[in-house]
Amino acid sequence: MAEPVRVGVLISGRGSNLLALAEHRRRDPERPYAIVLAASNVPEARGLVLAKRLAVPSWTQSHKGLERAEFDRLLEAALVERRVELVALAGYMRLLSREFVERWRGRILNIHPSLLPLHKGLDTHRRALLAGDLEAGCSVHLVTPELDDGPVIAQARVRIHARDTPQSLEERVLAEEHKLYPLVLAAYAEALRAGAVDAAPLPGPALP
Ligand code: GAR
Repeated sequence: MAEPVRVGVLISGRGSNLLALAEHRRRDPERPYAIVLAASNVPEARGLVLAKRLAVPSWTQSHKGLERAEFDRLLEAALVERRVELVALAGYMRLLSREFVERWRGRILNIHPSLLPLHKGLDTHRRALLAGDLEAGCSVHLVTPELDDGPVIAQARVRIHARDTPQSLEERVLAEEHKLYPLVLAAYAEALRAGAVDAAPLPGPALP
């Protein structure tokens, strides 16, 4: 069996998608990915506590007071040190610099709680309700420098009910996220390992 693809998960908060990705892999060690790092721009993120419980190594650095490109260089150094091959954004609430995204082209996935291209950005469930949408859902997509943009790989849908609130909708969509993301990450990791996706060569360690 080929070595599992080494995944770094980027989080800013709760970490429930990190947990879903890790649990999926724990239940089936034949999965083609292994989570080797949880990285966060928010040192107090609850997801980091989860990472510790899951015995996933973590890295954190507040982005406050740092230029975006400077922060991303520190982040990249942490990813390179753990020999990360694929980056999974899971509630990472920060735009990545164009340089970072280009250097990791084809190696960054994101999950977003809407049926993209609808409702990019924040507050997606409230906006779906206000728009009178009949369906909501989540999308896993490849990351490009623009916010919540980039080719969609897969989506999961839920029906919107007349009595839904942003909270009730979030709960149903989040349950779908937890099912969808591990499946897509596994399929993408397999394709990456097989050389079947267009991805940039792995960034090496920073030169002194
Ligand atoms: C998830 O719903 C994820 O889709 C969303 O943040 C939440 C994080 O929850 N991401 C975005 O909105 C990115 N644009 P989690 O920390 O429990 O995984």
